[in-house]
Amino acid sequence: MAALIGRDLLSLADLNSGELQELLELATELKSEKLKLHCNKVLGLLFSKASTRTRVSFTVAMYQLGGQVIDLHPNVTQVSRGEPIQDTARVLDRYLDALAIRTFAQQELETFANYAKIPVINALTDLEHPCQILADLLTIQEKFGTLAGLTLTYVGDGNNVANSLMLGCALVGMNVRIAFPSGYSPDAEIVEKSRAIANNKTEVLLTHDPEAAAKGASVLYTDVWASMGQETEANNRFPVFQPYQISEQLLSLADPEAIVLHCLPAHRGEEITEQVIEGSQSRVWDQAENRLHAQKALLASVLGAK
Ligand code: CP
Ligand code: NVA
Repeated sequence: MAALIGRDLLSLADLNSGELQELLELATELKSEKLKLHCNKVLGLLFSKASTRTRVSFTVAMYQLGGQVIDLHPNVTQVSRGEPIQDTARVLDRYLDALAIRTFAQQELETFANYAKIPVINALTDLEHPCQILADLLTIQEKFGTLAGLTLTYVGDGNNVANSLMLGCALVGMNVRIAFPSGYSPDAEIVEKSRAIANNKTEVLLTHDPEAAAKGASVLYTDVWASMGQETEANNRFPVFQPYQISEQLLSLADPEAIVLHCLPAHRGEEITEQVIEGSQSRVWDQAENRLHAQKALLASVLGAK
């Protein structure tokens, strides 16, 4: 994947369709262990929000490539004492080979990327979660053997995961339906961008009707009703989101072969029922595993592993 060497991944739309599909192929090869890649590089993790999967999968991916990781929590750096991002980015650039950042504002990530020449990777912002969607698409491809023409229905909050899913589905030729309560829409600019990528060949549908959206879908997907940073809104959100739960009844409307995905962490009894997440159509553990393989492919590509 020479085309990706040195590149940032701030939004899933930083990849074109061919690059995204090649990354998924590389992830598949790395997962099968038919291919081994090596790079003696150092990745920094600068995470301002909690993380289990992203932190551990990036770390293990880097170790398996023969590289190393430095966990740079903002509290143990001068970032917490107000050192400007512009300065921090130019300094880290001199030590590290790549930087994965989890933060609130997309703008902060973009400032890092503007001031650091090394690859900067979005490990989740309020706007997007592109690394999650690499793993999601890999999981869907493993189940169906292909992506183009399938329909993914996301039910719940129009959040970072929903935004990146719209871009990802459009890039691989999947139809995407987002069913959300009024007032909790995905980002309008990303909707437009996804529709531009889909170019009328596939659907990017926004609706308030979860049942209509679920009908015949190959993938049902949900995420928490209150994301990190929205904890104080949780009590007000719950009654509004109740009709947007993935239950066995909603799942029965999807294609009989449909799979259920959730980026995790999950709140059973809220956005998904215990029966569905533990049921036979759930692929959430494969999906979580695939974070490792997908991010290993991404790191190997941007770092030029051989
Ligand atoms: N899905 C996901 O990004 O999980 P973490 O918050 O645990 O990294
Ligand atoms: N939308 C969730 C995803 C967590 C992985 C959040 O931002 O908290």
